[in-house]
Amino acid sequence: MDIGIDKIGFYVPKDYIDIVELAKRRDVDPNKFTIGIGQDKQAVPLPHQDAVTMGASSADSILTDEDKKDLGMLIVGTESSVDESKSTAAFLMDLLDLPEDIRAYEIKQACYGATAGLQTAYDFVSLNPDKKVLVIATDIARYGIKTPGEVTQGAGSVAMLISQNPRVLKLNHESVYMTKNVGDFWRPTFSKTAFARGKFSNEIYVEFFQTLWAKFQKKYDATADDFSTMLFHIPYTKMGTKALRTLEGKVSDEKYAELTEHYQNSIKFSRDVGNLYTGSLYLGLLSYLVNGAKANENVLMFSYGSGAVGELFSAKIQPGFEQVIDKQALIDMLNNRQKITIDDYEKIYQIEYKNDTIVDPSTVSDKFYLSEIKENERIYKKMK
Ligand code: CAA
Repeated sequence: MDIGIDKIGFYVPKDYIDIVELAKRRDVDPNKFTIGIGQDKQAVPLPHQDAVTMGASSADSILTDEDKKDLGMLIVGTESSVDESKSTAAFLMDLLDLPEDIRAYEIKQACYGATAGLQTAYDFVSLNPDKKVLVIATDIARYGIKTPGEVTQGAGSVAMLISQNPRVLKLNHESVYMTKNVGDFWRPTFSKTAFARGKFSNEIYVEFFQTLWAKFQKKYDATADDFSTMLFHIPYTKMGTKALRTLEGKVSDEKYAELTEHYQNSIKFSRDVGNLYTGSLYLGLLSYLVNGAKANENVLMFSYGSGAVGELFSAKIQPGFEQVIDKQALIDMLNNRQKITIDDYEKIYQIEYKNDTIVDPSTVSDKFYLSEIKENERIYKKMK
């Protein structure tokens, strides 16, 4: 049975900052941020937006009533959850009008969460072929103002509906994975911002890719010639480039040129959005689908979550995928955002809603928003 991604949706906050303006304000050569790090814009979430509201928006963009009837499970991958106990998935039940007879929960393992969700969904659908699984990746990447990681922030959500006979991407059931206790990136429960050993995280990421690629080749008797595209976890776009470069000189020049060209298409959206943490790999997939993917291409996908878990798996782009993806709507969503100043971004960054907050709905332009914090409970609403 073929199983994989039947639909894929995306949400990005409407405000962004320009990375050149950020560089100038931080007294950094803009080329360091645009070329050295590889970013152009960074999404800025507003205080009434969080993992719940963004997750609701990306899922709402793809779900029909028919899909909801067929749903067996909802899995949310996030490392930006709003509660230490109640899952983001539970909040989404009424926002999305989901049926009660499903399993709904959250997975956390840094940027690997959504891939854990995707692989769990694969298993679930193989045992329950008539059911669908909704997997949502939703995160706000925060390192703090004036930190080295600031240029690698971002926010947004990707939702994927997993089913049999998928119309977008078939998972080939070829996968290798590994886990190690590594201190490259962490966010203790008391902190709103992440801590990272940035350069070390790059080294571990590349090391995981090399180890897994060697394992994959051995396990499946595969070579780079079996793939026309490699998609990477891209917290910032230079990071995937570093992994891809390890293949230079090890594969033919033609293959390396093809992989590099396709990689450039896969990072277009990320350059304009920034870090989605666990959604980053899947934003890369979406960017590639919109910018040059071809039916029946075999792709290799590298998922990495600090701490650290890595997984390398293969998939096939399905014939007719263009009909399932609203390319123009995605491009419009990115183009119709508004640039805010670095001053405004810094002000927004400092706002933290506490207990007894009531959000004025006239300040909200999204369908889903945090409406109130009462008795320390977050209450969400959907615009009529
Ligand atoms: N023109 C062009 N390029 C320039 C330049 C200039 N004027 N000046 C510098 N550069 C280049 C450098 O040569 C360097 O390139 P390479 O990486 O290819 O060597 C690049 O710009 C960055 O320069 P530095 O290394 O000097 O930058 P930095 O010290 O400010 O640190 C960083 C960069 C480590 C990425 C930092 O931004 C950081 O710590 N980010 C957060 C950590 C992170 O994003 N880790 C990602 C993996 S973890 C993850 O994904 C999270 C998860 O699982 C949740």
